[in-house]
Formats: sequence, C-alpha cells, structure tokens
Amino acid sequence: LAVLRPGSTAEVAGAVRLCAARGVPMVAQGGNTGMCGAATVDGSGTQVVVSLSRLDRIREVDPVNNTMTVEAGCILQSLQDAATEVDRLFPLSLGAEGSCQIGGNISTNAGGVAVLRFGNCRELVLGLEVVLADGEVLDLLRGLRKDNTGYDLKQLFIGAEGTLGVVTAAVVKLFPAPRQSGVALAAVADPGQALELLALLRGELGDKFTAFELISSATFEHTLGHLSTLQRPLSERHPWYLLIEATDAGTDGTLAASLEAALGLALEDGVAIDVVVAASEAQAAKLWAIREGIPEAQAVNIKHDISLPLAQIPAFLESTEAALTTQWPGARVFAFGHLGDGNLHYNVSHPPATHDEKGWQAETNDVNRIVHDATTRLGGSISAEHGLGQTKNVEIARYKSALELEVMRRIKRALDPQGLMNPGKVLVDSPGAPPR
Ligand code: MLT
Ligand code: ZN
Repeated sequence: LAVLRPGSTAEVAGAVRLCAARGVPMVAQGGNTGMCGAATVDGSGTQVVVSLSRLDRIREVDPVNNTMTVEAGCILQSLQDAATEVDRLFPLSLGAEGSCQIGGNISTNAGGVAVLRFGNCRELVLGLEVVLADGEVLDLLRGLRKDNTGYDLKQLFIGAEGTLGVVTAAVVKLFPAPRQSGVALAAVADPGQALELLALLRGELGDKFTAFELISSATFEHTLGHLSTLQRPLSERHPWYLLIEATDAGTDGTLAASLEAALGLALEDGVAIDVVVAASEAQAAKLWAIREGIPEAQAVNIKHDISLPLAQIPAFLESTEAALTTQWPGARVFAFGHLGDGNLHYNVSHPPATHDEKGWQAETNDVNRIVHDATTRLGGSISAEHGLGQTKNVEIARYKSALELEVMRRIKRALDPQGLMNPGKVLVDSPGAPPR
C-alpha cells in the first residue's frame, strides 16, 4: 500500500499508532537482504512497509563499557567500522554486511561466520528499544551485563522477525580488536574427520578459534567454476574442505605459527589430509573469497539452513544424499556452512542434464520433506540462522510441538492482539495472518 520512512523512534511510534488505529498491517523492513522473506509484504496490497533505513545514527560508542548504542537502520558494516575506530570489534559478520541493517540482524537473530567464538545476535545484544504494536515505546536500552530483574523481555523481540514490535535501537557488545589472525584451508577425507579436526583445533587454539567453515568438494568446484577471479589454493582435489580462522587481540605475533603448528599436528595425527596456511593478508582474503563466493554461485537450487547436533552430521550427510539421489537420480547436493556451530547450508540442485528450473522448484516440498524430516529425526532445527519468514512458516508447524507453537501464539496475542505486526510471518495462523 505504501512505504513509510520514519526518521526517528518517535516517528516510528507515530506511524505504528496511525496504522494501529486504522487496522493497517505493517511490515518492518531493514536492508531487505533476508533469506526467508520476513521483511517483504504479501500480495494483498493492504500492507505497509515501515522502512527503518533513515534511523541510521550511532547514538553512542562506549569503549569503557565495551558497548555501542545504535539505531536499527545502521548498516552492519558501519557498526564494524565504528568499533574499529575506537580499537574494538563488533564481531557480527555475514555476507550481506555491506547492506543489511542491524535492526534486521537483530530481528532475525543473525548468525554468520564468527558465531563459533562470539555467538549469534542474541548473545551480542544487551539492550533494545522497541515500538510496540499500539505505538508505545518500550525502552530497554540498558548496557548492563548483569540485570536479574525478571523476564528478559529484549530476547522476545530478538529473532521475532518484526511480529511482536518494531526494533528501533539497540545496545550491542564490543570486544577487543583483533591484532593478529591466522587463516588456513584444510582438506579432510569425510565429515567425521572434519569433526575430529574441530575438536583438535578447539584444544590447540582455545578461545582464539573464530571460524570453522565446511565446504564440500561439489560446492568448492562449483564456486571455482562460477567465479573466474578465484584461484585454486591446493593443487589436488579433496572430498571436503574447512576454512579455518583464528584471531587474537594480543600483539606477540605468534598466532599464525600456533595455527600452523596445530594443523601440522592434525596432519601428523591423520586428522587432515592437506593444508594451506595463508602467508599474508592477501592470501587470507583469497581463501575467504572462496567461502564468500559460495552463495552467489548457488543461485538456483532448493536451499536449506539447518542445524544438527555435531555428532549427527556425518550420518545426516550420508543418509540424506542417498535418499535424495534415490528419488532424483543425479540430483546434486551442495553442502557448506558453519560446521563449528552445527549449521549446514544444504542446497539441492536438479540433475545436471535437467535444465527445467521451474520443474525443479516444483519439487521443493518433496525435497524439504526428506531434508527436514532427517534433520528433525536427528535432533536438529530446520532454521538455524535465516529465520522462518514466509518460506518456512508453514513448514515449522510440522516440526515444532503443538505446545511450543501454542505458547508462541499466546505471546503473539498478548503483544499484538490486532495481529497487525508482520502478519503471517513466523506463525502462519497468528491473528491477522492472511488465509492460506
Ligand atoms: C552463508 O553462510 O553463506 C549464508 O548464510 C547462506 C546463503 O547465503 O545461502
Ligand atoms: Zn550462513
């Protein structure tokens, strides 16, 4: 119906009050980079977009408290830059960081490539300011690391995808700026060996261990084939690769050597079959470019964002690919992701000979059934870091218990009785959701 572009929290509150008085459904939108359609309107023509992009001020940077107070429309990269300016780190890092906004990151509880060390967005937020469904401003903008005064209300709005209120500002945590880093690519024979390598590096690197990203051989070759600027870092081809990063705020210059020694141990112990350690920042960037190039190369396929107990990942990978290729002979699996967090991006593509993309997309429900049923059977989650939005809101009803969904509905009814806040997202049958 319209795009509202408020420039302050008071204006967001005013916009929400107007919509609430007239029964107009609202969809809060940040950088519009989400993977699950949480920030886009439905096709009814009755909803308004509330764009947060004009709320782009960093209100305060406090290097003593190690916090920063930021408005929802700040681009993630601008937060990282502001932290660097005061010799600190804001560790949230993901592919869309040049255009996604912190309000969207918070509303989807974004993950990314440094969760292993710093946690998801949930762990990075100390305080929140939220415009509630009736236009009242809930001020929880506290930068306290200890606050045991009852329910932790901010956590209700983090990951709620704008269905309970509109996040307008947040107090986020800062960390010491890294002064040295080590980046490597390791090859392993299978996912079981990848987990052994993870355990070894945890022991050797301790809290300096920042990223452990899995890339299957199919994904690796597909990405190198797709992006001509990428270079092959190891001369031989291997079944699985891990991109590994360690960072440290210390200045003794020993981190790269520690990483090299740990990986040397891995080779000796038969926990890795090949390794390359970046000898310069430029080489490190080239290794990361392969990982960062994956989503772009993965444009057309049926995508999944799942998490599993680490020990179940080898069984999941083996049995799910077997089930998929039995049903669709020649179907290709592109598995990659944040193995250190138990989070796989598991994309399934049509057999190479089939170029009927529409036909393949029509198989989505059947593919999802195999992937999501296996995930759930093994104790996992069908959305690890991307959220539910409008692509998994129906699917989730199959996998969450009836009671868990009912408690979510009660919270939704309590905070948004008219059902005007991003209706139909997360909970498909919440008040105000369009019929399906
Ligand atoms: C990633 O980790 O690269 C993204 O979360 C997955 C994607 O963009 O497909
Ligand atoms: Zn990811």
